[in-house]
Amino acid sequence: MALTAKSHSIAAYDIPERVASYDADMDLMHPNRHKMLQIVLELLPFSPDASFTALDLGVGTGFFSYVILKRFANSRVIALDGAASMIEMAQGRLGPMADRVDFRTGDFRNLSELLRGERGDLVYSAYALHHLTAPEKISVVSEIVKFLNPGGWFLNADLIIGHDAQIESRIQEIRVQGIVGRARANRNNGESNSNDERFASAASTRAFIDNLQSREHDQPLTLNEDLRILTDAGLKNASAFWLEYREAVTGGFKPL
Ligand SMILES: C[S@@+](CC[C@H](N)C(=O)[O-])C[C@H]1O[C@@H](n2cnc3c(N)ncnc32)[C@H](O)[C@@H]1O
Repeated sequence: MALTAKSHSIAAYDIPERVASYDADMDLMHPNRHKMLQIVLELLPFSPDASFTALDLGVGTGFFSYVILKRFANSRVIALDGAASMIEMAQGRLGPMADRVDFRTGDFRNLSELLRGERGDLVYSAYALHHLTAPEKISVVSEIVKFLNPGGWFLNADLIIGHDAQIESRIQEIRVQGIVGRARANRNNGESNSNDERFASAASTRAFIDNLQSREHDQPLTLNEDLRILTDAGLKNASAFWLEYREAVTGGFKPL
């Protein structure tokens, strides 16, 4: 069934001011995304000159796709996002490599229509699939498994939630302390965002992220729930490859 209403998680990103500060904010709030990208690159068993088609679900500003296109000079990426403003930023970042990128604006809950029966060898997604409900995630991952050729990989770098409320609460305290500390260090170094009041204290940081999560309709699942979804959707070797507190790289490959 085609979905017509723009999802809240797309609308929250389709705001030019949000997009302009997006990468700087990601470095403050999710510095692990660099590590997660490194894990994805290490896991992929493809040679640097392999020729393949990849699919980026929620390309955002192109942070992951930039590195995939650089590492694999013969790769082609279908870069999908619901937010046109994000796609514009990705087009800027990917610059001269954009001739190997097929940008598509659309809701990945409509993946089968957006992919038009195409096949590929790699699907990756970063900080995007936690916007889906569990049934939506199963349906999207089933489409991913259909898209993959045998031997193809799916890797998801995303948010998870603790399965115990007290542990989740402690992880949230660590999260806020980390953001406040990095913002203070930026201020001390005179870096951009140095007058950023959002992260001046633990209370202001908590208020900012609570508001953001509610606008974006974040709905992360536990690691076990995510792995179960991948398995139920047909990725029988689903595994967790890296994890720190509330961020994980999960995925697997479609057997030959
Ligand atoms: C937190 S950003 C992550 C962007 C990028 N992958 C990164 O690592 O920086 C999430 C992205 O997913 C997109 N998105 C969220 N829900 C979506 C949906 N249902 N369909 C298509 N894109 C969606 C948003 O527009 C946004 O660009």
